[in-house]
Amino acid sequence: MDARSSRYHETYARWQRDPVGFWGEAAEAIDWFEKPKAVFDPNAGIYGRWYTGGVCNTCFNAVDRHVDAGRGDQAAIIYDSPLTGQKRTLTYHRLLTETQVLGGMLRDLGVEKGDRVILYMPMVPEAVIGMLACARIGAIHSVVFGGFAARELATRIDDAKPKVILSASCGLEPGRIVAYKPLLDEAITLAAHKPDACLILQRPQAQAALIEGRDRDWAAMRDHALIYAHSAYRCVPVEATDPLYILYTSGTTGRPKGVVRDNGGHMVALTWSMRNLYGIEPGEVYWAASDLGWAVGHSYIVYGPLFHGCTSILYEGKPVGTPDAGAFWRVIAEHGCAALFTAPTAFRAIKKEDPQGKLLARYDLKKFRTLFLAGERADPDTIIWAEKLLKVPVIDHWWQTETGWCIAGNPVGLGALPVKYGSPTVPMPGYDVRVVDESCRELAASTMGSIVIKLPLPPSCLPTLWQADDRFRESYLTEFPGYYKTADAGFKDEDGYMFVMGRTDDIINVAGHRLSTGGMEEVLASHPDVAECAVLGIKDELKGEVPCGFVVLKSGVDRQPAEIEKECVALIREKIGPVASFRLAIAVARLPKTRSGKILRGTIKKIADGEPWTMPATIDDPAILDEIETALKGKGVGA
Ligand code: COA
Ligand code: AMP
Repeated sequence: MDARSSRYHETYARWQRDPVGFWGEAAEAIDWFEKPKAVFDPNAGIYGRWYTGGVCNTCFNAVDRHVDAGRGDQAAIIYDSPLTGQKRTLTYHRLLTETQVLGGMLRDLGVEKGDRVILYMPMVPEAVIGMLACARIGAIHSVVFGGFAARELATRIDDAKPKVILSASCGLEPGRIVAYKPLLDEAITLAAHKPDACLILQRPQAQAALIEGRDRDWAAMRDHALIYAHSAYRCVPVEATDPLYILYTSGTTGRPKGVVRDNGGHMVALTWSMRNLYGIEPGEVYWAASDLGWAVGHSYIVYGPLFHGCTSILYEGKPVGTPDAGAFWRVIAEHGCAALFTAPTAFRAIKKEDPQGKLLARYDLKKFRTLFLAGERADPDTIIWAEKLLKVPVIDHWWQTETGWCIAGNPVGLGALPVKYGSPTVPMPGYDVRVVDESCRELAASTMGSIVIKLPLPPSCLPTLWQADDRFRESYLTEFPGYYKTADAGFKDEDGYMFVMGRTDDIINVAGHRLSTGGMEEVLASHPDVAECAVLGIKDELKGEVPCGFVVLKSGVDRQPAEIEKECVALIREKIGPVASFRLAIAVARLPKTRSGKILRGTIKKIADGEPWTMPATIDDPAILDEIETALKGKGVGA
């Protein structure tokens, strides 16, 4: 890899010189029903809008046009489920029929353009068809990750106010069946908003009881729709600026943020990324081993690969244990994947089970060219291990749910730049990334600061939060005027390489899943015996970080602290869900604070991580840190 042979620098400079020309040209890769009147309108929306006046349909670009262009018999989706032992291929033609039929079914259930549809689904083809069918009829989908509990689903139901919910009888985790339907029923009971209907996919592993008058059986309705309903439902023209989906992500409180994605900008940026960033050609097989409930799943299991006419893998399994640490190699070999995109934690899991990578010898990865990692900081050890084993470039790239695609990466399609371990490489065209101090002054190279992006954000990035323009402004645009606050801290080196080191807020990243410690604190505080609490992320070899909760019990509570700790762990699982990976609650007498009452989270974290720490000058009572250290040691945490 040689920086001079990459077209990155000239491409980035071309965008800098003429952003409108750059994104205007990129938009030519999309089939528009009506071309945009403006590539960018600085006066529309909160910081301007992309492709105003353009009329289009996302499902048309993902499916129909490929059938029209002769890709009908090509596999669009390969469903590979080691958890059920099932494999299923959906050609583009089949996907077209299925989205037409489900689009018709949704219309029959009363869903109109602009209505919201929530999907609470496992990793099955019907979930992809559901997303595309919504796009087809101009409805706005909102996928909720299956590892969230009923209360989290209820919060999203109340915010998005869906007309219909698509769900299934169950999801599957290794060794257990996750019954979704009781969680769905409980969420609807908890929510103030009630959907008109729920369409339930009965999976053979569990049958769900349907509620008369509200729930519909997916298969039965589909059979009926194939014969009678609007079975060839057309693509509804929508504005480029109309929302395609809402994806909820953790904020600093228990109330998640509804990230809005539009239709036009999203299509343009993702299509651009497939060739230029990922180096993938139409017809190739692309695999994002993520979940449809996350941004990576939206962008690179469903939309990006399909916009580009690729075959996308939908994998219902894990990197290890389904059945072994060779699962990823099996899928790559069997389906001829050219690229895999996953989170570093998946590779840490494989490395832990099979440190020598012996299982790789069973498979021939001849078509495999590149491994892409994102979702959390890729630690150099993991990258080097993967490089040595797979003998292909291992590319870290940095992005957020809010952006929907990569902010900084190594553009393989333009010619990869030399890799610097620990760096996701350089900003993509569209992103003017700066590192600033608290007063928004740009910092010198290699100096740590807040990472911000100069407005406007490029196509695909969120134009706002769902029905919360003020929250959008307050969360992202107010602290550094003229810039979008990423809430990540890091630096840029002399060569312009980004280093993203961690969050500046109380978001933690657990196995590539983004979680709010503030949200967990709200739950712990609701325990009747808890007076005060603090949750922070501590180092974990496999998951990167895991949450650890300290609870101070109310005076007069005379129950065993161990019993209350157990209840706290159960409470987080019940209220937030298993995805929180909350296993460590520690009852302590007091929390260390500054004299002004701020909990010294940074110092507690250092103690827990076994890192050197100094006594903060502002500490109220130094003895409390010793108590914390002892409590952590009692649980086997810290040096
Ligand atoms: N539905 C219900 N429960 C789910 C779920 C889902 N869709 N996904 C995860 N869970 C559960 C798990 O079963 C686990 O439950 P447990 O506490 O009973 O064991 C819990 O949520 C925590 O899940 P996770 O953090 O994923 O841990 P894990 O031990 O099951 O797996 C990895 C660890 C590393 C194998 C897994 O996290 C992984 O493959 N991650 C990389 C890929 C990825 O998803 N990245 C995200 C964005 S790119
Ligand atoms: P999510 O919105 O779930 O995609 O999480 C986004 C957050 O994950 C970012 O703000 C970062 O803190 C972190 N993140 C994602 N990718 C990377 C990466 N490649 N390097 C460092 N941090 C990352």
